[in-house]
Amino acid sequence: TVPTVETDVLIVGSGPAGASAALALSTYGVPNVMVTRYSRLADTPRAHITNQRTMEVLRDLGVEEDVIAQATPQHLMGNTVFCTAIAGEELGRLRSWGNEPLVQAAHELASPTRMCDMPQHLMEPVLVNGAIARGSQLRFGTEYLSHEQDADGVTAMVRDRLRGDTYTIRAKYLIGADGGRSKVAEDAGLPMGGQMGVAGSINIVFDADLTKYVAHRPATLYWVLAPGATVGGIGAGLVRCVRTWNEWLIVWGYDVDAGPPDLTEEYALSVVRKLIGDDEIPVTIKSSSAWTVNEMCAETYSSGRVFCAGDACHRHPPSNGLGSNTSIQDSYNLAWKLKLVLDGTASPSLLDTYSDERAPVGKQVVTRANQSIGETAPVFEALGGLAPQTPEQLWRNIAARKDATTEAEEQRARLREAIAFKAYEFNAHGVDLNQRYTSAAIVPDGTEDPGFARDPELHFQPSTRPGAKLPHAWLSAGTRDLSTLDLGGNGRFTLITGIGGEPWTEAACILGKEFGLEIATAVIGPGQEYEDPYGDWARLREIGDSGALLVRPDNHVAFRRQDATGDVTAALRDALRQILGRG
Ligand code: FDA
Repeated sequence: TVPTVETDVLIVGSGPAGASAALALSTYGVPNVMVTRYSRLADTPRAHITNQRTMEVLRDLGVEEDVIAQATPQHLMGNTVFCTAIAGEELGRLRSWGNEPLVQAAHELASPTRMCDMPQHLMEPVLVNGAIARGSQLRFGTEYLSHEQDADGVTAMVRDRLRGDTYTIRAKYLIGADGGRSKVAEDAGLPMGGQMGVAGSINIVFDADLTKYVAHRPATLYWVLAPGATVGGIGAGLVRCVRTWNEWLIVWGYDVDAGPPDLTEEYALSVVRKLIGDDEIPVTIKSSSAWTVNEMCAETYSSGRVFCAGDACHRHPPSNGLGSNTSIQDSYNLAWKLKLVLDGTASPSLLDTYSDERAPVGKQVVTRANQSIGETAPVFEALGGLAPQTPEQLWRNIAARKDATTEAEEQRARLREAIAFKAYEFNAHGVDLNQRYTSAAIVPDGTEDPGFARDPELHFQPSTRPGAKLPHAWLSAGTRDLSTLDLGGNGRFTLITGIGGEPWTEAACILGKEFGLEIATAVIGPGQEYEDPYGDWARLREIGDSGALLVRPDNHVAFRRQDATGDVTAALRDALRQILGRG
C-alpha cells in the first residue's frame, strides 16, 4: 500500500496523553499527526484534579495561563466533605488538595504553580488548540486499526470514519495514547499486569444550583454515605463539582458482574435526588455513562518504535486524581527524547529511558489509587459498617455517634481518625511531586540516596540529586521574579551554576557545539544574571557556589557536581555522552 500521509511522529488519541504529546512535540518543532477516533474531543468532565507537577509541565509548554483562566482555583477545591446527602447531615471534612495550612505552605514552597481543578472536557481543547497552533495536524474521525514496524519506521492502518475508507500513515515513531482499551499497546504486545473491570461506576453529569448547600464549605468532592453506596467501585456516592456551584458529576457504583443498569433519565434522576437530598432543587440531567475501574499497568511502555503513554499503560481508579496528571507527565518525558533522537543529537537508546523512568511511576500510581479505595473503609467502619443492612440500621449507626456514651465517644474518635487518614488520597503532596528517575539518562554523582526524611507519599522532599526534579526557588532578574524551573525547560538542557562556576558555563558552550545540542546556562548569585534574594536557592541546591547542575528539558537533574575542581569539560562531556547514548 502506498502511504498517503507521512510524518515524524504519529499520535493515536487526543486525550490528555495524546494532546500533550502533540503539544510538546510541536513546541519542540517535531512534525506530528494526531488521529482520534471521534469527531470531537472529550464531551464529559472525566479527569479534573490537576496537580502542581502537571501545572509545571503546562507552564513550560506555555499554556498554564489558559488553564488557570478556566480552572476552579485551589482554594475552592479543598474541603472534602463526608455527609449523608448534600442537604443532609455532615459527618466531617478534610482540608484537602493543599488547603490544610501546613500543606498549603508546602505547596507554595514546592512550586511556582498552584494545583487546580480543570475538567477534562476543558483541558483537552487547551492542549489540542496549543498543539494545532504550533503545527500538529489533527485528524478527527480517524480510527487506528493496526500497525507494522520495520527498521526505519512504522506504518499504521487507519480508517476515515466519515468517508469509510482506510489508508496508511507512515511515521518514524508511533505514540499509542489511545486510553484504557489501547489497541496500540495490545498490537505492540506490551506486557500488562493486573485486572480490567474490577468494579463498575456510572458518571452522571447534571446542572443544579447547590450554592446554598456548598458555598460555605467549598470542595471538589462531596462523599455521600447513602444506602446502596457500597455497591461498585468506591464505596460511597461521590458528588463532584464541575463548575462552581451549578454543574456537577455524580459517580455511583454498579455491580460489575450484573452489568450496568439501564441509564435512563429516570434512573439518573433517582441517583441525583438520593445524593442531593432536597427534591425542591431543580435538576437537569446532561449525560450518563458507565465505565469500569481497572487495576492494570504495563511493565514496559515501548516496543521498538512504538511508545505508549497515559491510560494505555496505567489503568486505575480516579482516587488521588492521578489519571490525567500521569498521562500528561508521560508525554512530557517522551517528547524531548523523540526530538533529540529524530534530529540525530541522541542515539535511539535514549528512548529506552522513557520506559525505565515512567513504568515505575505508573506502577506506583496504580498501587496508590487502589490502596486509597481500601483506605476509605475505616470511615464506613466507624459508622458501624454500611453493608449489608437496611437503610434504617444505617441511619441508626450514623445517629449513634451523637450519644453521650463511651462507645459514642470512641466512635467519634474513630471517625475523626478515619477521615484524617484520607490525607493519603486528598493531600498526598509527595505522591504528586516525589518522582525520581533512575536510567541511563541520569548520571549518578556517587552520593548515597538519602531517602526521605518524612512519609514520601504525604510530603514532598526537594533534592538536586541526579534523577530528582529541579527544586523550585524564586529568583530575581532585575525587577522580574522567576522560578528556577523557568530557567530550565523550553525543550533544551540547562546548566545551572553560581559564582566561580565559569568553567562549567564555558564547558557547556564548547560541548553544546560539539554535540549539536542547545545548552542554556544560568549563573545565580549576587551581581549575576539571576540573583537569589531570599537565599532559598542556596538552601536547596545541595552544591557549592561553583558546583553545577545539568538539567534535562523536562527539568529533571541529569548530572551534579559539588564544585568546579578537576577537568570539568571532560566530566560534562562524559555525562552528555551517557545521557545522549553517544558512548
Ligand atoms: P483517554 O482515554 O483520555 O484518551 C484516549 C484517546 O484515544 C481518546 O481521544 C480516544 O478517542 C482515542 N482513541 C481510542 N482508541 C482509538 C483508536 N483505535 N483510534 C483512534 N483514536 C482512539 N479520571 C479521573 O481522575 N476522574 C474521573 O472522574 C474520571 N472519569 C472518567 C470517566 C470516563 C467515562 C472515562 C473513560 C475516564 C475517566 N477518568 C477519570 C479517567 C481519565 O479520563 C483518564 O485517566 C485520562 O483521560 C487518561 O488520558 P489518556 O489520554 O491516556 O486517555
